[in-house]
Amino acid sequence: MSRRPLIAGNWKMHKDHLEAIDLVQRFNYRLEAEDYDAVDIAVIPPFTDLRSMQTLIDADRLPIALGAQNCHWEDSGAFTGEVSPPMLARLNVRYVICGHSERRHLFAETDEIVNRKVQAVLRHAITPILCVGETLEQREAGQAKDVVVGQLHGALEGVGAEQVRTMVIAYEPVWAIGTGRTATPDDANEMCAMVRSTVADRYAGSTGEGVRVQYGGSVMPGNVVALMRQPDIDGALVGGASLSADDFAVICRFPRL
Ligand code: PGA
Repeated sequence: MSRRPLIAGNWKMHKDHLEAIDLVQRFNYRLEAEDYDAVDIAVIPPFTDLRSMQTLIDADRLPIALGAQNCHWEDSGAFTGEVSPPMLARLNVRYVICGHSERRHLFAETDEIVNRKVQAVLRHAITPILCVGETLEQREAGQAKDVVVGQLHGALEGVGAEQVRTMVIAYEPVWAIGTGRTATPDDANEMCAMVRSTVADRYAGSTGEGVRVQYGGSVMPGNVVALMRQPDIDGALVGGASLSADDFAVICRFPRL
């Protein structure tokens, strides 16, 4: 089964809405139609940029999907400071990152919370980008696979095979995020293959073959080709390098490098 790669730029808490417009316009100038034909591309800016991004993408008919970095699991209610999946759906948000390691570690998100978010996002026909990955201590203690398998089962509780097939799962070793240290292509592929086989074991049929598994953690122009050449890596979740129009354009053009 051929899976279309997804390159997604997670801007984290960077870029106001004016900077966002500038960045996406400059990025788009660097790409040609055949680049957009070869990969799915998404930008995942802060909430305050989403409306401006939606307007720009619509007006210029850009083949770029919009994502959000987080959401609440309820549709509405007394949850000061939160944003709901239906609000995001109204802005044509197509992806929501669920369980990024910064949310797990800095904002105490548990597997149970991540699971609620995954289910809520799917209920509104938005694709979750479910993030999993081990810390350096866990890797050094030989626990990387157990940790990731545990995160997967926790996040997928109550989620059906038909829904999982549409999901994106990002394997992001915590020690590689924002550090300039990348997993080797072989190690990254081994973990992404393990993510896929965990999904395949949990669900019947071809579910594991359909799910897209991204690698994330210091993906840059200099390492993207070697990573994307791996058979079980179906794209990248890019942090730091997605804040540069030049770098993100090179990363998105990896099939032509
Ligand atoms: P990085 O971030 O590319 O800056 O390592 C990746 C991520 O956090 O998704």
